[in-house]
Amino acid sequence: MTKITSTDTHPEGNSRPVTSRQSDIHPGLSALAERYRDLHFRKPVADFNQLAFDQASELLSAHGGPLILDSGCGVGDSTRVIARTYPDHLVLGLDRSEDRLVRQRQEPLPDNARLIRTDLIDFWRLAATAGWKPEHHFLLYPNPYPKPQQLQRRFHGHPVFPDFVRLGGTIHCRSNWLIYLKELALALELYGINSHITPVPDEPSMTPFEQKYRNSGQAVWKLLSVPPPDPGDAK
Ligand SMILES: C[S@@+](CC[C@H](N)C(=O)[O-])C[C@H]1O[C@@H](n2cnc3c(N)ncnc32)[C@H](O)[C@@H]1O
Repeated sequence: MTKITSTDTHPEGNSRPVTSRQSDIHPGLSALAERYRDLHFRKPVADFNQLAFDQASELLSAHGGPLILDSGCGVGDSTRVIARTYPDHLVLGLDRSEDRLVRQRQEPLPDNARLIRTDLIDFWRLAATAGWKPEHHFLLYPNPYPKPQQLQRRFHGHPVFPDFVRLGGTIHCRSNWLIYLKELALALELYGINSHITPVPDEPSMTPFEQKYRNSGQAVWKLLSVPPPDPGDAK
């Protein structure tokens, strides 16, 4: 019988580090991100994403905010951790994989958290257009797409990036590919947003992918954006 394993349920230490012909930031990133910054992304929104967004809007209205997004939440372990850490916030875990979202986890979903099946490319655009302002935006271990020709599949090289930025909030991104975070930092800088990249502290893993990379002896990194100064603080 075939043994079916999955990173999310079996975070074993057999993961290989990201390899890429890229040894640093993609040379085409700045030009691409600048082009997308000045372009209006017009792809039609899929019905299932509109429905997911409408349902999420109802949840947000009923809760009243503040809001935290956990984009690409996978099985939602991080959504659970964040919701426990911020009990007064509504925490929405977003992922396109139904299979991951419905996977049985040890910990029940806290009352202030919901997992929603959606494609971020549409959801972020709808949320930004509706004026959503999450206080924090988590993007934990996004698919790296490490081949140089895959730059446009990385979120910071995608035409949706301006909407991700428009949503605002403190950005928390983690990756086992440092170049991904350096690129994200550069793309954010084009919008005047500064960030810091540091090793993920030696604390319990927030997600199954983090656990898997650690079990495999890989370094994991985090990017944290620096919130813009509060105008009220100016003397
Ligand atoms: C490498 S996994 C990381 C999952 C989880 N954050 C973790 O660290 O365990 C990347 C996740 O992003 C989701 N994802 C990638 N692109 C997406 C998109 N455009 N819309 C929604 N989810 C997406 C995938 O389904 C997958 O669950």
